[in-house]
Amino acid sequence: MLQLAQIPVPKAPLPPLKIRHHIAHYPVVQGAMAVRVSGANLAGAVANAGGVGVISSLGLGLNSSYSSNQPKRGSFFEANQLALIEELQKARALSPTGIIGVNVLVATKDYPTIAQTAAENGANLIITAAGLPLNLPDYTANHPEVALVPMVCGLEAVQTICRTWQEKYDRLPDAFIVENSKTVGGHIGTTCENPNSGIEYLIPQIQNYLQNHLKVDIPLIAAGGVWNRSDVERMLALGASGVQVGTRFITTEECDADRRYKEVHLNARSQDVVVVPSPVGKPARALHNVFAEKAIAASPNLERRCIANCLQSCLCRDGRQSYCILQALANAAGGDVENGLIFSGANVGRAERILSVAEVMAELTSVQETLPD
Ligand SMILES: Cc1cc2nc3c(=O)[nH]c(=O)nc-3n(C[C@H](O)[C@H](O)[C@H](O)COP(=O)(O)O)c2cc1C
Repeated sequence: MLQLAQIPVPKAPLPPLKIRHHIAHYPVVQGAMAVRVSGANLAGAVANAGGVGVISSLGLGLNSSYSSNQPKRGSFFEANQLALIEELQKARALSPTGIIGVNVLVATKDYPTIAQTAAENGANLIITAAGLPLNLPDYTANHPEVALVPMVCGLEAVQTICRTWQEKYDRLPDAFIVENSKTVGGHIGTTCENPNSGIEYLIPQIQNYLQNHLKVDIPLIAAGGVWNRSDVERMLALGASGVQVGTRFITTEECDADRRYKEVHLNARSQDVVVVPSPVGKPARALHNVFAEKAIAASPNLERRCIANCLQSCLCRDGRQSYCILQALANAAGGDVENGLIFSGANVGRAERILSVAEVMAELTSVQETLPD
């Protein structure tokens, strides 16, 4: 029989997350995951479950019906654009009233076109990463309803973006996603030089700048290392208005990656997480496999053929070093889990089975305290 002290006390509901005029029932943003790990299926499911679903736009054209080896052939960049429109339509069909965002990488060559296409085709939010989006408002000028949300890993990036946008556009971002460099999956610190500050320090520091210096209230969303409701509460207690969750959504039925990719994540332990060099010139957090070992050793056996010329600056294309990141990520998500690059947050190793997105959202937001075993 339960002792009085063991009787679970229902928790208070989490506050909603308001970004511009979009209100998500839960303060949970699903992190973008390339290539096609977070497509329409995952984003639509998260949006339906009351969070913000996010489509990762990197390399969507690859292996799509618009890619150059398919009947509707076109250039890689055209294929990306058409595949993004298709992906947005699919996500909207899955979640007609949910909040759907598109993640756009500033470091890619088609960043302006992809941002513009996302705004024109019904994205509620544009989230940027891998660089400072200093001209983003230009690309979405005809769509004031679209919220603009840069991802940052330090105060300096926030200051530069705010100053530039105020001067050039008389506006500020609608929210910031603040990266916890110690835990996030994928690239680490693509918007700052020294990505070592802890989130416990960054959230209050950025909040202090926005509230006391700029006198504005801009929601901050903490990204990295969030697994359950107590992690969400910890981030809210720091002053964040929400969290961004990536790795936890990989082991879901709705995640767009191949089943083998999800199973590798399901079976991984925290000691399998490694940091690999990447052709963008920044380190990236990933799971140990044959590919990661070769990347760490800078093996001459790595495939160095640039398949799409996707990045503004790329060690593989420009310096014949490293590897083609698009190919490596697409291989893994497509099921080649030994010869592909499997991005992962440090938080891996806690999933016990593949869950539905609704179940994961319940664990992130539930008002019921789970009983001790
Ligand atoms: C497989 C994978 C792919 C990712 N791809 C992207 C991406 O394309 N764009 C981006 O901004 N962040 C990307 N990220 C980072 C996530 O969006 C998110 O910020 C991060 O994973 C949050 O940390 P967590 O995984 O500990 O929850 C990726 C992360 C993973 C695990």
